[in-house]
Amino acid sequence: MTKRVAILISGGGSNMVSLVKSMTGDHPARPVLVLSNNPDCSGLAKARDLGVETAAVDHRQFGKDRAAFEAAMNVHLDAVDLDMICLAGFMRILTADFTAKWGGRMLNIHPSLLPKYQGLNTYNRAIEAGDKTAGCTVHEVTAELDAGPILGQAEVPILDGDTADTLAARILIEEHKLYPAVLRQYAVGDRTPIKIG
Ligand code: GAR
Repeated sequence: MTKRVAILISGGGSNMVSLVKSMTGDHPARPVLVLSNNPDCSGLAKARDLGVETAAVDHRQFGKDRAAFEAAMNVHLDAVDLDMICLAGFMRILTADFTAKWGGRMLNIHPSLLPKYQGLNTYNRAIEAGDKTAGCTVHEVTAELDAGPILGQAEVPILDGDTADTLAARILIEEHKLYPAVLRQYAVGDRTPIKIG
């Protein structure tokens, strides 16, 4: 049975594009919805251009009421009969209720070699620590931020003179390989960790 996947984004959506483009042919999953908390983000237009249904729930309309924001997202998510959610640059912290509802079927990509550098500003933290390598991680989402079981990692060198921007660009190239590779496996129940680089 083909798995029905929603992708949640907040910004440019380059990971979303790589995931959508990967889900063709004999791939075990298909994209059925791209949902954003930012109605103006450029990723929504990219999803529409790729022929994927889109929706937006503007988190700013809910103030500090995360539960109400997530309830509004769940209306869209429940309407498309989902098997899985991929967070792809989705920059809102989720409540334990939301992570419990979608637990065991929700993935995230994070731009660090977890467990190092959970949260924000990962590139500068790796550079300032003097690390020789950095990278990205795909993991299952649990109630604890950026701490669920790791399903894959890609590693890149940190080069002399790297800035957050140059390092982010090098890592993003690997994100676009890693996330589709993990999704393809995960969609058939294979959680064997993938290592790139
Ligand atoms: C990606 O680098 C992703 O790893 C990161 O946001 C970027 C989104 O880019 N995610 C996080 O920082 C989540 N904590 P994209 O919109 O082009 O895919």
